[in-house]
Amino acid sequence: MYQFKRTLVTTALPYANGPVHLGHLAGVYLPADIYVRYKRLKGEDVIHIGGSDEHGVPITLTAEKEGISPQDVVDRYHRLNQDAFLKCGISFDYYGRTTSRIHHTTAQEFFTEIEHKGIFTKKTEKLFFDRKADRFLSDRYITGTCPICNNPEANGDQCEQCGTHLSPLELINPKSKLSDATPELRDTMHWYFPLGRFQPQLEEYVNSHKSDWRQNVVNYSRTWLNQGLNDRAITRDLSWGIKVPLDLKEAEGKVLYVWFDAVLGYISFTREWAEQMGQSDRWKTYWQDPDTRLVHFIGKDNVVFHTLMFPAILMAWNEGRQSDCYNLADNVPASEFMNFEGRKFSKSRNYAVYLGEFLEKFPADTLRYSIAMNYPENKDTDFSWQDYQNRTNGELADTLGNFIKRSVDFTNARFDGEVPYECTAEDWNSLGINWPDTLEQLDLAFEGFHFREATSIGMDIARAANRFLTEAEPWKAIKSDRTEAARAIALSLNLCHALSVTLYPVIPETCNRIHAMLGFEGTLEDHFKQGSSLFDSLHVPRLKKGERLREISEILFKKLEDADIAPELLKIEGLLAEAEKREAGAVRERMDFKPLISFDDFAKVDLRVATVIAAEPVKKASKLLKLQLQVGPDTRQVLAGVARYYTSEEIIGKNVILVANLAERTIREEVSEGMILAVEGTDGRLFLIEPAGIEINGKQIQ
Ligand code: 2FM
Ligand code: ZN
Repeated sequence: MYQFKRTLVTTALPYANGPVHLGHLAGVYLPADIYVRYKRLKGEDVIHIGGSDEHGVPITLTAEKEGISPQDVVDRYHRLNQDAFLKCGISFDYYGRTTSRIHHTTAQEFFTEIEHKGIFTKKTEKLFFDRKADRFLSDRYITGTCPICNNPEANGDQCEQCGTHLSPLELINPKSKLSDATPELRDTMHWYFPLGRFQPQLEEYVNSHKSDWRQNVVNYSRTWLNQGLNDRAITRDLSWGIKVPLDLKEAEGKVLYVWFDAVLGYISFTREWAEQMGQSDRWKTYWQDPDTRLVHFIGKDNVVFHTLMFPAILMAWNEGRQSDCYNLADNVPASEFMNFEGRKFSKSRNYAVYLGEFLEKFPADTLRYSIAMNYPENKDTDFSWQDYQNRTNGELADTLGNFIKRSVDFTNARFDGEVPYECTAEDWNSLGINWPDTLEQLDLAFEGFHFREATSIGMDIARAANRFLTEAEPWKAIKSDRTEAARAIALSLNLCHALSVTLYPVIPETCNRIHAMLGFEGTLEDHFKQGSSLFDSLHVPRLKKGERLREISEILFKKLEDADIAPELLKIEGLLAEAEKREAGAVRERMDFKPLISFDDFAKVDLRVATVIAAEPVKKASKLLKLQLQVGPDTRQVLAGVARYYTSEEIIGKNVILVANLAERTIREEVSEGMILAVEGTDGRLFLIEPAGIEINGKQIQ
């Protein structure tokens, strides 16, 4: 394997439009942090770059919903997420924002370079336009009925209910989320990135990593390649974003597509990091020196943006250049998803546990450990409160915490807080732990992004250590053979040190506490030195006879009582009940069909467009409105059950569809001469079917 001199780790930039949840932590940020902490322990040169994705439609949608500016939205969530990561011990070297000046400049430089090379194509296409709001609607701004599952609230790009990817043109009855108006199709010009132009290079790139990338990453990328790569629009008609840097009429009101801009954030933030260090060119070493290894940690939904789109942008930049060429990612460890109590996390459905909120109640390391043991490396996994409680109590408190405390307390009580014996290499190897093998396995696990395995190896050492101490029984031995007791406890203390190193990438805060208890000055990080590996120091016992402990002994993990997690379980029950209710409603809507009728039966129904010309409430019938309808030259009176959704004023003037040949009925002493058509959503809302844009009897229906 090629030995790189340094590593640049990036983590997917979360949209700053909501708090990050445990699913994000499990898939991206914790694995990346474990990896960089491991590298730092090894004395390697590594930096971790991340930040907030502050452009894109989800942000403007949130802003509109809350009646605040997009800047307010991103300010709020950038801070919130950065704080949550900090509390969780995610050790970024730099956490940037895509609204920064340097980022705007970087993204515009890329656009300009590729535009100057004549690589972009321009195309005019028809997009939905909202006349009331006077703007084009990107996919997320359009909602309508899913053609597959009838979900009345599908998004223009995807139906959340059945998961189908959609184009807004496929939606039945599309509506603008801005104004509720039915949007119209209008021509608009956009810049396209011709991914297909880079197909041969991308094929070669992906194929060269067939054996070292995860199967899912190769598969997603190959599926796209096999289908043939198409041009992708990289501009949008929006005001929030990075302006298209061209002084042309046709560039007005257009910004860069958020995915074009976001991936470049990795570069901008490295630039900002270098600037902050006062070495403004240093970022180039991490991006442009071929001896740097670039690794992107992402979730599986972001794969092709990182294995095809971003590399193609970099290829376009590199084309024809002799210098300042960018490296392509050497690996893209994309995770599967971690579910929560058996269900997918969903921010939009509020089915989630948010990181910041979790850390207000429970310590970061217990979460980090539990999630590392559930790392969704090759398949989806599940986080449950029960599992979290079991691992905290059984593995962290009873096994690891207990061993450390017993070793330290015994040394303080019986050996005056001093390491009482000089352990030899022979002693160290007599523990039943094959150190060279174990350390190699750990290296392979961390380097191969097998973080569950790496964590398990650490916990196995804790189990072996516990067993050793229990069997050696120094508290008994000390009565007859003080040297034997001293040897046992010195070995135990050395095991404590080994655990503080091997588990450091996963539970850094705890390991620093162990390190302090063992009497070391400063934190573990203070002992990191480039070029010298703390990891490799474990081949021999590290603590020497006579070294003093700190004479503090802490309980490292507080056990979780049932009462601690009971409120969380209750909360889940509520969330699950809500989700089930929603789903049951949707299923009923889909499944409760009435018996078949023949075509001839249906043909008997006479449907007419009618206009509501008068409306008034019906006494003692709060759900009904009495409507007067104009249908051609006739008027009709209809009692309609719409009073909960429309006032008399709102309904007057609407065009509706009337079942014109329904037998008369008398309701509350009023005659009803027909019925009007409406649909009711599973959320209980009701919409009249309002024909528009057609001509009836010489009259244009609006
Ligand atoms: O899926 C997301 O949350 C995106 N904001 C990820 C962007 S990753 C990178 F391109 F910045
Ligand atoms: Zn659907």
